[in-house]
Amino acid sequence: VVTPLMFEYTLLERARQNRKHIVLPEGDDDRILRAAATLLARDVVELTILGEEFEVRSRAIGLGLDISKAHVLSPFDDVLRLKFAEAYVKLRAHKGVTLEQARDVVTDVSYFGTMMVQLGLADGMVSGAGHTTAHTIRPGLQIIKTRPDVSVVSSVFLMALADRVLVYGDCAVIPDPTAEQLADIAISASETARQFGIDPRVAMLSYSTGESGEGADVEKVRAATALVRARRPDLPVEGPIQYDAAADAAVAATKMPGSAVAGRATVFIFPDLNTGNNTYKAVQRSAGAVAIGPVLQGLRKPVNDLSRGALVQDIVNTVAITAIQAAALSDE
Ligand code: ACO
Repeated sequence: VVTPLMFEYTLLERARQNRKHIVLPEGDDDRILRAAATLLARDVVELTILGEEFEVRSRAIGLGLDISKAHVLSPFDDVLRLKFAEAYVKLRAHKGVTLEQARDVVTDVSYFGTMMVQLGLADGMVSGAGHTTAHTIRPGLQIIKTRPDVSVVSSVFLMALADRVLVYGDCAVIPDPTAEQLADIAISASETARQFGIDPRVAMLSYSTGESGEGADVEKVRAATALVRARRPDLPVEGPIQYDAAADAAVAATKMPGSAVAGRATVFIFPDLNTGNNTYKAVQRSAGAVAIGPVLQGLRKPVNDLSRGALVQDIVNTVAITAIQAAALSDE
């Protein structure tokens, strides 16, 4: 039995084994400083915090926090600003970006942090405590880009229930995925599940189980399931399937006997963002689950977005997750 507290503890322990370097662009946010102090005290990661050094360090002291082991870097640092602007121009030349524009763009903390990751000065970035999702992840989409075998960046939540951890995707990024994108989300989610110690059995969710219902939305899920099977014959996947048949052994026995996934799915892929986003929130708010995420997947290097309501513990978890993703990517 894995309780949410045990799972969170395991995240920190796994991150600590690799001690990756994570950049936190929002040095002006007290929650970021508190999370940084916790992570440094437990030696989970190496950290760079963006901001003016004197301001960040004196704020931390004022809060009674020890962040002396963190690097603090100004996004207006002349040398890095020029280096990042030149790299950004190269990456975005096809969009008509000039060096003058690039020099402005890279002082935006999301861009500055993303450039650090792109150029190998950090292994991953965690931001979004005070910025929108789009603001936080757009630089990653433009600069770091997707892995070669994946067409889209998507996300999952690790749903820590009372006795197990399930993976829900996509609940935060792609509003209405095509069948191809849905297949990508499923394959990425199965890999993310593995990175966090969860054996993937993938349910492609729909309002139909097998042949029980029909409609364009069911056909999309059927097509996506076929694509997953073709690309990853080794991966247990079932679809279209309803949530109850995916999660409950008794329902599975009547609706889909003999399936390797029905009744014991661990990875739940929603047909669109309306379903995914509201389902994770429903389970979080009504079933007392701890929702850890969104965990972005499909990027060449890890960037993760915080909710603006993030608690210090959420930030600590997200940094640990990002470090674990960075370690998995550098092992490939
Ligand atoms: N994967 C890979 N690349 C992408 C993706 C993706 N999923 N989406 C956009 N891109 C690329 C584009 O190709 C483009 O690249 P280019 O500039 O090199 O041509 C670049 O990113 C910007 O694309 P836009 O179409 O301008 O996308 P935008 O940046 O406006 O939006 C975003 C991207 C923010 C992810 C958008 O899809 C979105 O808003 N999704 C919904 C987010 C949301 O509201 N979630 C629910 C709340 S989150 C929660 O509840 C936890």
